[in-house]
Amino acid sequence: MAISRVAVSGGGTIVENAIETRKLTKTFVVQRGLSDLIRRRPAAGGITPVDGVDLLVKRGEVFGILGPNGAGKTTLIKILCTLILPTGGRASVNGYDVKKESGMVRESIGLVTTDERSFYWRLTGRQNLEFFASLHNFYCDDARDMVDELLGVVDLKYAADERFLNYSAGMKQRMAIARGLLNDPAVLFMDEPTRSLDPGAAQSLRDFIKEEIVKERGKTIFISTHNLEEAEELCDRVAIFDDGRIKVVGSPEELKENLGNGSKLSDVFLHYSGKRFEERGGGGGFRPDRRGFAHRGGLGRRRGGL
Ligand SMILES: Nc1ncnc2c1ncn2[C@@H]1O[C@H](COP(=O)(O)OP(=O)(O)O)[C@@H](O)[C@H]1O
Ligand SMILES: [Mg+2]
Repeated sequence: MAISRVAVSGGGTIVENAIETRKLTKTFVVQRGLSDLIRRRPAAGGITPVDGVDLLVKRGEVFGILGPNGAGKTTLIKILCTLILPTGGRASVNGYDVKKESGMVRESIGLVTTDERSFYWRLTGRQNLEFFASLHNFYCDDARDMVDELLGVVDLKYAADERFLNYSAGMKQRMAIARGLLNDPAVLFMDEPTRSLDPGAAQSLRDFIKEEIVKERGKTIFISTHNLEEAEELCDRVAIFDDGRIKVVGSPEELKENLGNGSKLSDVFLHYSGKRFEERGGGGGFRPDRRGFAHRGGLGRRRGGL
């Protein structure tokens, strides 16, 4: 794949597109169970959650992958973050090939997920970030300064020396963002960052992402969501994604306008996928998932639920 590059002053080059994919595909082989083996049933085949995906994400853009549960969003992000290998096609992030230059890709990206278990619950927020900073090869003083700065960025300085287990869901999610920013990445991947938050905390987090991460820090963001309002509010452009395929790409306004007067993003989804958004994935697009939402002590309330 030809990587688009533009010249910058001083003779260097930077890549024009933060992310490029060409016919990117991932097929998981469905393994036969023991009883299938004993009864000599044939293999069930494969499942293809990423199916020939072509994408161009520009530098500085907030790009959203909008699709219901099971559409393949996480699988796509995992490939772009080099956590799993594609089975077909190509992808580059910041100009680096995800297969051949995975180390360079990893150095230039951050990943924010909703997996709270990836933090150490008995350590404080500060200790957690210092630990993860050491994994990025930052040593003592440098790590301490940077962690201090990031705790300020995510507005958690006031709780930095509290144990992670006492944090509310919103605070944990801010910690995940701080961890994603530790290596000052050019591209920040966010996999459904507001999934485990109640509507109020989710709105605060979206405001925070807009103000601090996009406006102040100018990061390229690749965000997956199954929430239509979230896609409209945060994204410069969205890709409607279903059954592993990109159905259409455009700004939310553009997509709605093209469909005609008064159309909503749910109408766009219906038009291009042939399915009602609410009916897919058990209607997860509209129901806040309260799993993991836990206010303890006074910490959560001090910042409006975050
Ligand atoms: N490691 C795996 N092995 C087999 N199937 C998988 C694996 N990971 C994901 N899948 C399947 O791929 C599909 C898409 O999953 P995922 O990418 O998590 O969707 P989303 O993030 O949009 O909810 C699902 O049907 C899921 O069961
Ligand atoms: Mg997912």
